[in-house]
Amino acid sequence: MNLRDKVVLVTGAGRGIGLGIAQALAAEGARVAVCDISARLLDEALTQIQALGGQALAFEMDVTSKPQISRVVGEVVARWGTVDILVNNAGIYEVLPVEEISEAQWDRVLAVNLKGAFLCCQAVIPAMKEQRSGRIVNIASSAGKTGGTLAGAHYSASKAGLINLTKQLARELGPFGITVNAVAPGRIDTPMIHAVSDAENEAFAQRTPLGRLGTPEDVAHAVVFLASERASFITGEIVDVNGGLLID
Ligand SMILES: NC(=O)c1ccc[n+]([C@@H]2O[C@H](COP(=O)([O-])OP(=O)(O)OC[C@H]3O[C@@H](n4cnc5c(N)ncnc54)[C@H](O)[C@@H]3O)[C@@H](O)[C@H]2O)c1
Repeated sequence: MNLRDKVVLVTGAGRGIGLGIAQALAAEGARVAVCDISARLLDEALTQIQALGGQALAFEMDVTSKPQISRVVGEVVARWGTVDILVNNAGIYEVLPVEEISEAQWDRVLAVNLKGAFLCCQAVIPAMKEQRSGRIVNIASSAGKTGGTLAGAHYSASKAGLINLTKQLARELGPFGITVNAVAPGRIDTPMIHAVSDAENEAFAQRTPLGRLGTPEDVAHAVVFLASERASFITGEIVDVNGGLLID
């Protein structure tokens, strides 16, 4: 995929899909800034990536904090010279009836899932514009396309916003050689989905034409492709990785 020594920043990479993406990009030879709000998860993630021979550095970073993002992007650029690829993966999830979502819960989910991606994009765009190339991949959700069947309204709305942010930035940044795409996963087997019962997750798998939940690797393969030169004429696209659960 020609990602050797590309500089990548992945948010929420301490576990789950983000860790899978960081591992897959490192396996392609990229230099990966593994970012997460949890220092404990970062330690474990870095050990796993380095054990496989990947080039990676860990950064404790809350995507809702503009100062923390600026500091991390500054350190990555100082160390590796630029940021070629940004993967906005950090996200939080809750399942609640709309009337039970507090204002604080609404604000937090929107802050992490939508504003966090916006702030990270803002932080890396100057370096990408300067080199007249870049790749941004946002991890959305099929809930952002259809409304969630097993997600709160705040989560689904945040992912719909992320899909539209992807389309808007694709238009704005195309003239600078920067592509902006999203991946919309269906149900992926990570710690996140254990917010609901095994029976509910199993019912999801049964409804899926391919008959199983997805894996972080399923999502990572699509991200690696979108981050690569092979996707150089694809921008503003939302790639479904959902086993056929949603076909549109
Ligand atoms: N698992 C699924 O079924 C599924 C489906 C569709 C979309 N997604 C999306 O994929 C992404 C990854 O999900 P996952 O299943 O791996 O979840 P996860 O909960 O297993 O991992 C999320 C990671 O993000 C980190 N994080 C949370 N808040 C953060 C913040 N403010 N700043 C930085 N890092 C933060 C967590 O510490 C954790 O390491 C999310 O955006 C999620 O909405 C997941």
